[in-house]
Amino acid sequence: MTPTRTSSTLDLIDLHPGAADLRRLVRAGLMQQPKQLPAWLLYDAEGSRLFAEICQQPEYTLTRTEIRLLEQQAETIAAAVGPGVMVEFGIGNARKVDPLLRALRPSAFIALDISRSALTDALSGLASSHPDTSMLGVCCDHSVLAAMPSHPWLDNQRRIGFFPGSSLGNFSPEAAVELLQRFRHLLAGGPLLLGLDQPRDPRQLEAAYDDAAGISAAFARNLLHRLNRELNGTIDVDQFDYRARWDEREQRIEMALISRIDQSFTLEDQHWSFQANERLITEHSVKYTPAAAADLAARAGWTIRERWHDPADQLSLHLLEPSD
Ligand code: AVJ
Repeated sequence: MTPTRTSSTLDLIDLHPGAADLRRLVRAGLMQQPKQLPAWLLYDAEGSRLFAEICQQPEYTLTRTEIRLLEQQAETIAAAVGPGVMVEFGIGNARKVDPLLRALRPSAFIALDISRSALTDALSGLASSHPDTSMLGVCCDHSVLAAMPSHPWLDNQRRIGFFPGSSLGNFSPEAAVELLQRFRHLLAGGPLLLGLDQPRDPRQLEAAYDDAAGISAAFARNLLHRLNRELNGTIDVDQFDYRARWDEREQRIEMALISRIDQSFTLEDQHWSFQANERLITEHSVKYTPAAAADLAARAGWTIRERWHDPADQLSLHLLEPSD
């Protein structure tokens, strides 16, 4: 695919999966027991907008805590990771990488994200405040990316990975190991700065994932609206309730839409049905203690060299280096 040059220091490569992939993924997910769809499907333009709103809810402290930690530790972190170009896997919130770019002043910043609109908004915002850093967006599902696309700003540069926001928590532990192995390959010897939050009071966690303003619920419901929009669906979205609950055994929040009644609908020409109280899992959010994080990293060929955390020690930034 040919890169679209949008300005002298901003470039975009579009590898976004097409409609056929969506159809296939949705089919596979709805045939699972329990039904579950990949979390990244939540992030169309509307979903990305709603997620940004979640990050501002009083109950959801993760984003604010991580930004504060990054702002306070940027110089220390920059000294520990060393020079290179920065590669962020998913540009959820551009404010996270901002203090790092200020401290590291890399020649290039490469952001991979599934939402084209989120990418262009984030990168054009960053470009104006970081004139010495070239901004490259790659619109893709980074969890299946086999190789970094070739680009003059990226080729032959030491790579520093950045995966904040506890995004790894969306993956099952097995898939998380696979993803960390993939990142190790994509970063080609460079380090990875990984942001993960820790297990804490289940009531706090359940409130964080089911805020009083109903933004988390709207974010999950948007997935059904998206299926209606993109697969010409007939889902009655109001016949689903939203629920977030802590699973102690798996150390994760399960977010799900629960069918209120026996119901059926079509997506393109396919029929699907839900029984009353049957759930569609929209995402999991696994929480990792520092020990669990170290174990996970080791299984993927990484060693945790350093850890920075907030004063309450609810969230960690781990510096991973390839194990030798
Ligand atoms: C983007 C996966 C880190 O699990 O905290 C927040 C997603 N979903 N509220 C998280 C999310 C609903 C978020 N991650």
